[in-house]
Amino acid sequence: MNRIRILMLASAIIVQCITATAQDIVTEYLGEKHAMMRVHKSKSLLLIPIEEKEDNAHLDVIADNKLVHSLNARLAIDKVDYYVPVDISAYGDNVLLDITFQNDRHKTGSIKSFVCWKESRLSDDFDTSNRERFRPAYHHTPAYGWMNDPNGMFYKDGVWHLYYQHNPYGSQWENMSWGHSVSTDLINWHHQPEAIIPDALGAIFSGCCVVDYNNTAGFGSGAVVAFYTSAKSSQKQCMAYSTDDGKTFTKYSNNPILTADIPDFRDPHVFWHNKTNKWIMLVSAGQEMRIYSSSNLKEWKYESSFGQGYGNHDGVWECPDLMQLPVKSTSEQKWLLICNINPGGPFGGSSTQYFIGQFDGHKFTCESEPKVTKWMDYGKDHYATVSFDNAPNDRHVAMAWMSNWQYANQMPTKQYRSANSLPRDLGLFTDGKEVYVSVLPSPEMSAARGKKIKNLADCCEVVMDIDAKPADIITITLQNKKGEKVLMTYDIAGNTFSTDRTKSGDISFSNEFPAVTTAPTHGVIRQLRIFIDRSSIEVFDADGKMSMTNIMFPNEPYNTLNVKSNKKSKIKQTIYYINNEK
Ligand code: FRU
Repeated sequence: MNRIRILMLASAIIVQCITATAQDIVTEYLGEKHAMMRVHKSKSLLLIPIEEKEDNAHLDVIADNKLVHSLNARLAIDKVDYYVPVDISAYGDNVLLDITFQNDRHKTGSIKSFVCWKESRLSDDFDTSNRERFRPAYHHTPAYGWMNDPNGMFYKDGVWHLYYQHNPYGSQWENMSWGHSVSTDLINWHHQPEAIIPDALGAIFSGCCVVDYNNTAGFGSGAVVAFYTSAKSSQKQCMAYSTDDGKTFTKYSNNPILTADIPDFRDPHVFWHNKTNKWIMLVSAGQEMRIYSSSNLKEWKYESSFGQGYGNHDGVWECPDLMQLPVKSTSEQKWLLICNINPGGPFGGSSTQYFIGQFDGHKFTCESEPKVTKWMDYGKDHYATVSFDNAPNDRHVAMAWMSNWQYANQMPTKQYRSANSLPRDLGLFTDGKEVYVSVLPSPEMSAARGKKIKNLADCCEVVMDIDAKPADIITITLQNKKGEKVLMTYDIAGNTFSTDRTKSGDISFSNEFPAVTTAPTHGVIRQLRIFIDRSSIEVFDADGKMSMTNIMFPNEPYNTLNVKSNKKSKIKQTIYYINNEK
């Protein structure tokens, strides 16, 4: 075929597409802030163009005169950053979108000139293949759109379920819904359809799931029951149940199940308490955690509150969890109460604090002095940590959102925003008079080790055995060819470990991003495990006494590792390649 013929064919195809779009989507302008899109439904998805710098427009989806869906999206006005799909497959042949913009833009151009009208299109597919160089290879990310807290995590019949705060209509926080992914090894995650979407009670904020083996709620034995906060003008706790192992949920018809007259009342966490034979629910309530009990998951009795005067109160308490764990090298069990807080973190912004004590089914009693504050992770990007319900072998597996509210919306990715941390198995250990939480990469991470490599790679684990000389200072530098680097310092006498990301790569998107984070080591570290993925570094003491999670955006992968010891400590490192991209 000669070149002209190819060009002619190509232009014929383009003309056809334009005609198809013009016929199938017709826009009517109803004022400078208001328009209607009539969609003649020839395909299942309406792809709408997004421009991140714009304000959210409100879109009501109307089918057969009924409001069938509502969403907010930053519709493109000047240029298209990316597309998001609106699923219209369930509605009749003609769908109407009633669109209201927040601001009158007539100073910069008439509504008719907004690019969203000519750039919207119908399609049966939405391309989710990765377009982002910073997308991690072995951490969970949403296929597209914004993500914050992990939600509703549970394990059942060999499958780990991870739900998450998701915006399916853009890569900034909005339209909170529960996205869903599943995995059989905690590393390879498979994206599932959206699990719980907003309704007349509000957006779907964070919460949990439990597996109701004894059918206490009457939804069936083994039903998965989800608890979440419906957020609108107030925050109230609601439930939904699934009889197909968490694929689809039916909202309980008597929602909400728990209300309060305070503005911050959210993130229910439910678990079964053996001794009292009751379900327990924790709900974060401003500066405290409220505790409720129930025998049927539907009616909840207030038991007590914990928090006033304890730990850090520089922000709102959010996303609680409570679990019983053995204390290492003892026969004791203690209770760990997780309390995420934003702001107030040790390096600014959001972070996970916790309390150790006793719980009798009614009341949590902290065993530390009120002024003691304990942090679970000493990086800047570890938030909304909660654990999986029903994990096997008495394991307590937690995951955190690997970001910080200070800059999460500005991170230099577009197709998706934010990743989750590696899964971590929690335990307890004693140091002096205090008991602390131990955090270890879940054993599944050792199974993910690939071949041994000589130099650093974009996705790898560095295992560093350290035979430390007293009072040594060990520095570990990860660097790329552009000179971007991450400096880690292990000060043995000072009992501290720190990570400096001030020169780590792209730090320009927020003044809050460049940081040095420092952790107490609780004794000498014998082995460090450093997990590097394309935009994160998680460091663990292999004994579990320190974890540090920080995100980084190097313009090229760090490819050299330089270890220096002032006093000639013996250090041996092994690097394993990790890549779980399918
Ligand atoms: C924590 C949080 C929760 C809330 C959710 C909303 O990051 O603020 O308290 O449920 O995010 O997306």
